[in-house]
Amino acid sequence: MILVGGQSTRLRPLTSTVPKPVVQLVDRPFISFMLEWLRGHGVDDVIMSCGFLADSVRGVLGDGSDLGIRLRFVEEPEPRGTAGALKLAEPMLDERFVMLNGDVLTDLDLTSQIAQHEQTGARATLSLVAVPDPSAYGLVVLEEDHSVRDFVEKPSSDRIETNLISAGAYVLERDVLELVAPDRNVSIERAVWPLLIGNGLYGFPSESYWLDIGTPARYLQGTFDIIEGNVKTTVLERLGSDWLAIDDGAEVRGRVIPPAVLERGVRVADGAHVGSLVVVGRDVSIGAGSIVERAVILQGARIDEGCELRDCIVAAGCRVGARTKITGGAVLGEGVSVGADNVITRGARIFPGVQLPDGAIQF
Ligand code: GDD
Ligand code: MG
Repeated sequence: MILVGGQSTRLRPLTSTVPKPVVQLVDRPFISFMLEWLRGHGVDDVIMSCGFLADSVRGVLGDGSDLGIRLRFVEEPEPRGTAGALKLAEPMLDERFVMLNGDVLTDLDLTSQIAQHEQTGARATLSLVAVPDPSAYGLVVLEEDHSVRDFVEKPSSDRIETNLISAGAYVLERDVLELVAPDRNVSIERAVWPLLIGNGLYGFPSESYWLDIGTPARYLQGTFDIIEGNVKTTVLERLGSDWLAIDDGAEVRGRVIPPAVLERGVRVADGAHVGSLVVVGRDVSIGAGSIVERAVILQGARIDEGCELRDCIVAAGCRVGARTKITGGAVLGEGVSVGADNVITRGARIFPGVQLPDGAIQF
């Protein structure tokens, strides 16, 4: 069961037009990384719990047969929260199942987590990872035997006594659902985990790669980690030993510096530098002398000559006029058009379809 019902406001404008699970990450819808990882651990039956823009998730993913997975969708009448969503899917669940937050990129060892769950006789086993700042997550304090002593969702600074957090991957026994009232909005973090402390709640600490991709900065980080091979994904097969995946149908006159992914129909003009740490989607054109570094440019965007794009995300169908600089974590939403000689930086987020004339923004 994968929860994908959140509104993903922190990832706007990428999620203004596309729900987070199907936002493109490197070369596929984000959630495909999770599905492939699950498949690798023997999961072949997945329920997606959707809210916002459910039809477009279904439209992109279909029935899962490409991945060898049976994929079903549950749509909430209104947001039910992380436990309410689970309750709604109760008739479809087995005695033991895995539940996942749908915004996580990880290669953690789910097989070992399930084995630990079995050994301890747990009712719920939460995978745990260490992060520098646990305040945005669910903090978990463990006993020696891996049972959970304390769980604090979004802890205030005075409650932070460890850096272990819940990674959003759970192994659950179906009877946990008896703790959840039907037809209501219920949070599993606030209403269920606390009840299970001392009563079958265990943690599975992991040192694997883990990232919640919920903000533009983390989306970029996830992209870089995939193409640098910091997280194990099938993209590594495409990159090969030279860390370059350049489609045969791409036309490169400038320089490409690895790691980089350039899809079909990409055109890189004379004197342009692309890379390192760049993903360029299908049919993107990059004009003469432009520099693109640590950036994602999605399908169909056109970058004119002499531009500088660094640490930024340019969504599908954007137009960027000559000599414009886009840096500092800025994000252009789908179909944005920026005229020549602009400077867009400091985390600016330009919403889909906005048009900026030549020289409109400078710092
Ligand atoms: N179906 C459904 N319905 N899904 C939901 C709902 C809902 O009402 N609310 C949230 N979700 C989904 C989101 O789409 C996301 O995939 C997942 O549940 C977690 O919600 P977030 O909003 O991303 O929560 P968070 O990141 O602040 O915190 C959660 O994840 C952390 C790890 O990333 C918590 O589970 C923390 O305990 C955990 O540490
Ligand atoms: Mg999250």
